[in-house]
Amino acid sequence: MNENQQIYESKKVVRNYRGLNKIYPAERVLLDIISRKTGKETMLDLGIGAGRTTYHFASLFKKYIGVDFSAGMIVASRNRFKDRLNAEFIVADVTSIPQLQVDHFDFILYSLNGIDCLRNFDDRVKLLSKIYNLLGNGGVFAFSAHNTKAITRLYTFQWPRRNPYRIITEYIKQKKLRSINGPLSNFINKDFFQLYDGGEYFKAFFSYISPALQIKLLKDAGFKKIQTIGIKGNELALEKVIDSDDDWIHYFCYKD
Ligand SMILES: C[S@@+](CC[C@H](N)C(=O)[O-])C[C@H]1O[C@@H](n2cnc3c(N)ncnc32)[C@H](O)[C@@H]1O
Repeated sequence: MNENQQIYESKKVVRNYRGLNKIYPAERVLLDIISRKTGKETMLDLGIGAGRTTYHFASLFKKYIGVDFSAGMIVASRNRFKDRLNAEFIVADVTSIPQLQVDHFDFILYSLNGIDCLRNFDDRVKLLSKIYNLLGNGGVFAFSAHNTKAITRLYTFQWPRRNPYRIITEYIKQKKLRSINGPLSNFINKDFFQLYDGGEYFKAFFSYISPALQIKLLKDAGFKKIQTIGIKGNELALEKVIDSDDDWIHYFCYKD
């Protein structure tokens, strides 16, 4: 079991995800695109957690398959969506998904920076190519990824806007960031790195990737049309996204 799998199996983290059904602004844009898309037979949802995205997307498809390597998350999803008869939930690592009942998907999703939980850069490259092959013609792959350009803000003390007690939590976070990962200079001007950014109580590590490198990897995997969306749901032209310092970038990738 890798380090990240262990934390996503923990009862505390599963409980946190079980309560989620919020949809983010960029996902609203995606939901609109997918609702209008022709060809909505099959959807594959990777790293589904406790089914936050099942809630919004599964009803649009005839067959929906959700995958997560955390058995706890899959049990939570099954319990939550007992009545959703088109949905199947599978415990599997996305880097070695077993043979599925469906071999081509109209839509594949890896939401909430789940792709950044992968062990290393090589796993990311291999997965992108596998996803391209799993998509049928006209299929869409959507995901979000942490942006390397947001690292300076992560390392900058964020004064709380409302709750003054958050000064203490922010102070502790800034101290931990440095003690676990070292100084900001370890990460500046890099196109890819991994660190413990505070997510999942500093117990999970996450990859960060520059939009320029992520777009190159998607093109190498075979995607010709890629749309990039900022954190507020605003479309970012490809030449602008390279300089964006949004915390996450959403990538919508089309297979023709
Ligand atoms: C940040 S959470 C996102 C959960 C969900 N997609 C959402 O939007 O609420 C990442 C999820 O991906 C799962 N995950 C991470 N790496 C995985 C892997 N290699 N194979 C399967 N699931 C993985 C974790 O267990 C966790 O549930």
